[in-house]
Amino acid sequence: MDDERKVSVKKMSDEKITTDISFTKEILTKYPKEQRYLLAILQDIQRHYKFLPRKSLSMVQEYFDIPLSRLYSMATFYKALSLKPKGEYVIKICDGTACHLRGSNIIIDEIKKLLDIVPGDTTRDGRFSLETVNCLGSCAAAPVVVINDRFFGKVTPSKLKEIIEEYGGNGDE
Ligand code: FES
Repeated sequence: MDDERKVSVKKMSDEKITTDISFTKEILTKYPKEQRYLLAILQDIQRHYKFLPRKSLSMVQEYFDIPLSRLYSMATFYKALSLKPKGEYVIKICDGTACHLRGSNIIIDEIKKLLDIVPGDTTRDGRFSLETVNCLGSCAAAPVVVINDRFFGKVTPSKLKEIIEEYGGNGDE
């Protein structure tokens, strides 16, 4: 569509993030030093920082004396965990069969035009992240978009533009 609709935000770089590790220290003392709490610890770190900072992973690795590769495997296996910073608003576009057939790809393209991000990216201002997800169980409302916990059905490019504007993605970085 037209250039005015573009939001001039760029992708966030993990390298530029400086991490205050005090929360990680705190969380490591909150749980017993047993590996069965690893996932809970990573989830707490994820919730706090909105991703798993490298410094935090190194601290967890040293604390449990386990290979760093094990933590990276967990970070990539569990969808709730992320090695990249997530935005304030996480846009999830369903790409299950029904949504795909009803144009989820068009919605993904529209997000790219509006926010200049593709699935897996976060805008540089940290406001939006984009993810694709499997069927959300609301196929009758396809294509479906969820922003944080808010659900939007039968989304069209023009409806998407209105939704994104409502969240402040109006081109004013
Ligand atoms: S395929 Fe999207 S809600 Fe089922």
